[in-house]
Amino acid sequence: MIKPLIAPSLLAADFANLQRDLDLINRSEADYLHFDVMDGVFVPNISFGFPLLKAVHEHCQKPLDVHLMITDPDRYLEAFAEGGASIIHVHYEACPHLHRTLSRIRELGCQAGVALNPHTPVAGLIDVLEQIDVILIMSVNPGFGGQAFIPHTIQKIAGLKQFLLANQCSALIEVDGGVSLSNAQSLLNAGADMLVAGSSVFNAPDPSVAITQLKNSHLP
Ligand code: DX5
Ligand code: ZN
Repeated sequence: MIKPLIAPSLLAADFANLQRDLDLINRSEADYLHFDVMDGVFVPNISFGFPLLKAVHEHCQKPLDVHLMITDPDRYLEAFAEGGASIIHVHYEACPHLHRTLSRIRELGCQAGVALNPHTPVAGLIDVLEQIDVILIMSVNPGFGGQAFIPHTIQKIAGLKQFLLANQCSALIEVDGGVSLSNAQSLLNAGADMLVAGSSVFNAPDPSVAITQLKNSHLP
């Protein structure tokens, strides 16, 4: 099994010591930095937006994995692409014209990601598989860091992997919410390619060691 991609979530960083935490990420084995945007409407919390994206883009050497937990994301795709996003995830539940939205993300030069809430079945993606680069499976209800992992996610990922294979789709499977060393190996065995981790990285005694451990969690 190849090593998973690891995306520490900025939401769990210390914003009073952001330069320190970004330096830490830069020196670590992280593959991406996950950037959670919450609007207080699609999810019951507000996080951060463009001013922080600008600062992070200037100081972070890792590509940015931008997770838009916002209604009507089409309004802001261009701004997030210009702000330095490498991957832009929109929520399936927030996009009435998902085919158009995903196509637009690619036109803007980014990878197109679609996030699914825990209750959203994967089958709804069947007619947009060609437009998707990454599928972000939410393993918590989005809106807050530090929540408990929903165990059913393992089965959902295994089902998604079969679904992608059956449809010759090479989209990556990313998992977000409550990911830690205790569930990483099961997630990878089920078919996950990329792990987002907030509190399990930044609350660890040494976050860069935690990132390396996640990176090697495919090993028995
Ligand atoms: C939750 C966010 C996650 C969050 C993960 O709505 O989308 O990216 O930062 O944090 P942990 O790893 O602490 O669950
Ligand atoms: Zn996220």
